[in-house]
Amino acid sequence: MADYLPLLIVGAILGVASAIFLTVYLWDLRRKEEDSAERQMSDGEICRRLLAYAKPYRGQFLLVALVMLLSIAYNVLSPLLVGQIQKLIREDFLLSALYAKVAVYAGILLVSLVCTYLQAMLLQKIGQKILSAIREDVYGKISSLSHAQLNKIPVGKLVTRVSNDPNAINYLFTNILVTLAKNTLVIFGVLGAMLLLNYALTLMVLCFVPALVLFTLVFRRFSRKAHRGVTDATTDINTFLSENLSGMKITQSFCQEDRKMAEFTDRSRKLQKAKQGRMLVFSVFRPMVYMLFISSNLFLFYLGARGQLDGWTLLGQTIGSDVVVAFYMYINKFFEPIQSLAEQFDMLQRSFASAEKIFTIMDMEPEVVDEPDAIDLPELRGHIEFRNVWFAYEPDQWILKDVSFTVEPGQTVAFVGATGSGKTTILSLLCRNYDIQRGQILIDGMDIRKIRLSSLRRRFGQMLQDVFLFSGTVESNITLGQDFSPEEIARCCGYVNADRFISKLEKGLQEQVLERGANFSAGQRQLLSFARTVIHRPSVMILDEATANIDTETELLIQDSLEKMSHIGTMLIVAHRLSTIQHADNIILLSHGQILEQGTHGQLLSQRGHYHKLYTLQYNKEKLSGK
Ligand SMILES: Nc1ncnc2c1ncn2[C@@H]1O[C@H](COP(=O)(O)OP(=O)(O)OP(=O)(O)O)[C@@H](O)[C@H]1O
Ligand SMILES: [Mg+2]
Repeated sequence: MADYLPLLIVGAILGVASAIFLTVYLWDLRRKEEDSAERQMSDGEICRRLLAYAKPYRGQFLLVALVMLLSIAYNVLSPLLVGQIQKLIREDFLLSALYAKVAVYAGILLVSLVCTYLQAMLLQKIGQKILSAIREDVYGKISSLSHAQLNKIPVGKLVTRVSNDPNAINYLFTNILVTLAKNTLVIFGVLGAMLLLNYALTLMVLCFVPALVLFTLVFRRFSRKAHRGVTDATTDINTFLSENLSGMKITQSFCQEDRKMAEFTDRSRKLQKAKQGRMLVFSVFRPMVYMLFISSNLFLFYLGARGQLDGWTLLGQTIGSDVVVAFYMYINKFFEPIQSLAEQFDMLQRSFASAEKIFTIMDMEPEVVDEPDAIDLPELRGHIEFRNVWFAYEPDQWILKDVSFTVEPGQTVAFVGATGSGKTTILSLLCRNYDIQRGQILIDGMDIRKIRLSSLRRRFGQMLQDVFLFSGTVESNITLGQDFSPEEIARCCGYVNADRFISKLEKGLQEQVLERGANFSAGQRQLLSFARTVIHRPSVMILDEATANIDTETELLIQDSLEKMSHIGTMLIVAHRLSTIQHADNIILLSHGQILEQGTHGQLLSQRGHYHKLYTLQYNKEKLSGK
């Protein structure tokens, strides 16, 4: 009994550690889990869809599997060889035989290194291809979504879906899957080799497996929670950042920096704590596995030493020094992949979570799509008719109620009315950013739903209320990447009076535009959007005039451009300054989504109704402010 005392002591320590872990695990199992972030898609479905992306590369994956098998050879064979070298040194030492064995060892090592390198290179290549395919598919899907759908998803979230989430899937293909497969094979390979070498010692090593399984189970449970904590805290911080970085100027104008800083610090600390928690889980798990590894080595060395000194045998098998050396290496190669497997499973779950988020976006059905029998519009005369149109953004909250009007080709029609009366909505419906619920919108006598979206929008020149400029140059913002000759660009800029301010810019058309056109004034942005529209030769122009105050000089320029543009084709204008639209062929006055009055400026004034009131009010106000 005294002979086995050291082994009993180590065994007792392990037993106590396992009992503690088991208690913690059982205690935690009883706690009710509030699992809000549980996945909806099954692992099987996610795998099936991911495999569809991997399918075009199945040949290459097969090659990787082959190369992987070769690279595993080192793990399985090297301890055997080292054991044999040890035996050779101890028994009948022959230099030539030693050289031969060392050469084989070096050969296997070299093959394994080359294979590992090849495998990594191949996987990176495939992974990057799959990654870009997924990224492009998500982006394509997002760009096909309707305005209503896009309004519902925060931009920060969409950016994460296109950038971060595919990365997690890339990691799955390049790293996790292979490591999982490789580690599983290594474990079985090593186990087989150990059994062949000495089954008694193998059984001794296997005695540690239940403890290992227990530690792994506990680790998986706690690491999942820890990861979820980190993910939630990261999403929280990202959402805060995406909103507050855009709104930083407002924060500064209202001197709210301190309050926002406090909110940010709070989130930042939460993330810090969550990450520390995750580290804690790993910092307990890894030493525990290491403890098992050391303990099994202690057993091995003790049995080996007693075998050498006292001729001990285990289950009738002798334990020579060559076996001890080989087993020392095998034990390492057995425990390492098991620890890695536990950690990789965790990563696998995280990749699946990312994949699910991506597939959820991909599963969104675009709400505004081409009908099967939709046709291309080769030409557009510019006849527009709204026939008893009813529209609501949210069910039953009607924004437009039974709106009907007609615009003849080449006419200029203006929409006026109080803020929120539905002017922008009408223009939006015309470009089919949303589908109407009742009634009909006809263009050249054809229902808008029967016209292909791309062909419809190409014929429309939209100048929106909030002019969007991309970062780039003034020129790239006008041409939007299409080929136009310098003369044509210059002619269009001149036509809409944008040339005056462009010529004053240091680099002219090549002047840099900052994100969202931050370095241009509202009036300048509007003139640029005019140039952008005119150069693309639309049949119908839509202008949603900005409410921002524009200086009198720019206003005159804009008026002049509008007057010129009205000769290009049909024009629909939403105007806030009634002076802008006095020459319109028809003025439609809206109130709460209904048409109150319509007619020319003169007709409406003589009716002395709402328009007359509005006009007199504005006229007096402008006179007072000296405009
Ligand atoms: N995307 C949206 N989702 C839900 N409701 C919306 C949306 N866009 C606008 N609305 C609502 O529709 C109504 C009409 O909005 P619209 O933008 O057409 O007004 P407008 O006449 O252009 O106003 P303004 O003169 O201020 O530009 C408003 O009550 C607004 O709250
Ligand atoms: Mg509007």
